[in-house]
Amino acid sequence: MPRLIRFDRTGGPDVLQWVEAGLAAPAAGEVQVRHRAVGVNFIDTYHRSGLYPVPLPSGLGQEAAGIVEAVGEGVTEFAPGDRVAYAGGPLGAYSEARNIAAHELVKLPDALSFEQGAAVMMQGLTAQYLLRRTYRVQPGDTILIHAAAGGVGLIVCQWAKGLGATVIGTVSSDEKAELARQHGCDHPIVTSREKVSARVREITGGEGVPVVYDSVGRDTFMDSLACLRPLGMMVSFGNASGPVPAFEPALLAKMGSLFLTRPTLFHYTARRADLLAMAGELFDVVASGQVRISVNQRYPLEDAALAHAALEARRTTGSTVLIP
Ligand SMILES: NC(=O)c1ccc[n+]([C@@H]2O[C@H](COP(=O)([O-])OP(=O)(O)OC[C@H]3O[C@@H](n4cnc5c(N)ncnc54)[C@H](OP(=O)(O)O)[C@@H]3O)[C@@H](O)[C@H]2O)c1
Repeated sequence: MPRLIRFDRTGGPDVLQWVEAGLAAPAAGEVQVRHRAVGVNFIDTYHRSGLYPVPLPSGLGQEAAGIVEAVGEGVTEFAPGDRVAYAGGPLGAYSEARNIAAHELVKLPDALSFEQGAAVMMQGLTAQYLLRRTYRVQPGDTILIHAAAGGVGLIVCQWAKGLGATVIGTVSSDEKAELARQHGCDHPIVTSREKVSARVREITGGEGVPVVYDSVGRDTFMDSLACLRPLGMMVSFGNASGPVPAFEPALLAKMGSLFLTRPTLFHYTARRADLLAMAGELFDVVASGQVRISVNQRYPLEDAALAHAALEARRTTGSTVLIP
């Protein structure tokens, strides 16, 4: 019987349990995948803590890479032995094997390892839509990305640099600043020492930036608005420090007729054609070496709680994977 991580109450990392569970044959439209590497993402901590409520008991995780073991009726796109990866579907990626709808899967190119596949689907597809669709970065733009040394952050820094942007990024330590710099961040800002909006104004000659990608949420939201030039785009895409409190929309007018969006990956990948196009673009920048995937933490799958504790304590850089 495959083993997996499950939780029956919300709370800290200690609610995660390592259990055995039966696995039925894949139903019509489903594929059974034997996981070789599982991605850890900040959103997994929101599900575990209860910030994003889910019915309990529940599995956890939405990203993995592995090998197809069996396919259900009607599945023609995949066959046993295929290397595949996914970011999405019902919670349950923290498992040795599972069934998942075929439309969630993409084929993993030979150029990418299972670890890279598990690390890059959620964070890399997020970087793709942020930079290429939500606000399409142009050569010569100066952009601001928060948590620049994190999983999404290191990918955004490299990709934006490749698109011809100047990258400003926030980090919490000098070590993270150096890492961000090595990944294309031109101006790392260490948040404990510098006020971000003041430094951004300094770097941009007072003008401000056309876009802020803010995944930190509560602690940074207001100051991020102050970094934008008139008609700038505020992309609030995460809550690592907690959710953004309610505010008056008139504030956006006062600060420069700003645009605000609160996107989530799953709307951008909802149509299969979009998922395949986005994954194709992502795999190209990884395979060409333009974007290097930094898997900087690895844990046995059963130690998922340790991975969560490290992520929430800001002790990680780049991506984290769990190995079944
Ligand atoms: N909307 C979407 O579609 C989407 C998709 C994927 C991810 N996300 C969001 O993007 C963010 C990054 O995800 P990730 O998996 O790549 O994680 P990550 O960036 O590797 O880790 C989170 C980072 O946030 C920073 N941070 C700032 N304040 C924090 C606090 N109070 N507690 C913990 N961390 C804090 C830390 O970097 P420093 O120590 O340098 O400050 C930390 O390393 C998350 O907010 C996630 O929810 C959104």
